[in-house]
Amino acid sequence: MKQLFTKMLPRFVAMATTVTMGMAALTLSTMATAADGDVKAGQSKAAMCIGCHGIVGYQNVFPEVYKVPMISGQSAEYIAAALNAYKKGDRKHPTMRGIAGTLNEEDIADLSAFYAASGTGEAAPEAQTAATADVAALLAKGGCVACHGVNYSKPLDPSYPKIAGQHADYLYSALRAYKITGNKVAGRNNAIMAGVVSQFDNAELKAMSKYLSTLDGELVVKPQSRFR
Ligand code: HEC
Ligand code: HEC
Repeated sequence: MKQLFTKMLPRFVAMATTVTMGMAALTLSTMATAADGDVKAGQSKAAMCIGCHGIVGYQNVFPEVYKVPMISGQSAEYIAAALNAYKKGDRKHPTMRGIAGTLNEEDIADLSAFYAASGTGEAAPEAQTAATADVAALLAKGGCVACHGVNYSKPLDPSYPKIAGQHADYLYSALRAYKITGNKVAGRNNAIMAGVVSQFDNAELKAMSKYLSTLDGELVVKPQSRFR
């Protein structure tokens, strides 16, 4: 009997592992509702976003001046992750914290689905302007393409952002934000990107931002009228 049990033990372990993995998958799929939002509902909820995200060239002024990021065409998972980061306070931008704080899980799912569906709808082109040797070396050092993907538009994980074609001044501000700690109105807490940006000085971050912004990406600003 004891022998039989010993023989069976690996099987029990295997079974238990399968059950645990099954439960983990269940938890993940419950959390993944962020991706299951309702595009139509999101469209009407976006009325509170278009005053900034729906105006071409609109500038953020506090705590710094830069163009409001393009969010149409980001993946739903990343949009939801970003909104939750503002809501939790991991991202400190005051206005976005205030706005995200008013959104519940369903709002976030709907808005994320809507903005994900309102991008260019076309994959970023394969052939892109090559970076200068200096910038190429910086991008290689940071391993950026490994996570942000081919053309900086096919992230390794859907909760990572597409960055190609995003506004240069916003990219630069976002990169610097990962270096800021202990400031109430600026900064982002993210272990991955904090590690990445710590290898670079601001001039290097700016040079990479400038190059990335020149690439054809999948992000756009869709003015309000196009929704109607
Ligand atoms: C008053 C202007 C304003 C309004 C209104 C606004 N946003 Fe924003 N949003 C911004 C700015 C500025 C940023 C960049 C903040 C930062 O630097 O982290 C931002 C960032 C974001 C990001 C992160 C983008 C990225 O690339 O990481 C998402 C997602 C977002 N907003 C979604 C929304 C949604 C959804 C709404 C409506 C419910 C909304 N915003 C309303 C100004 C605004
Ligand atoms: C190990 C994976 C990884 C690597 C390597 C990486 N990133 Fe990121 N990056 C991320 C993740 C994850 C986020 C989202 C962080 C958050 O939620 O704020 C991000 C966010 C960003 C953002 C903010 C985008 C936005 O819309 O706000 C920029 C800009 C960025 N990365 C640029 C870079 C550059 C440039 C490099 C190389 C120097 C790089 N990343 C390397 C994973 C990575």
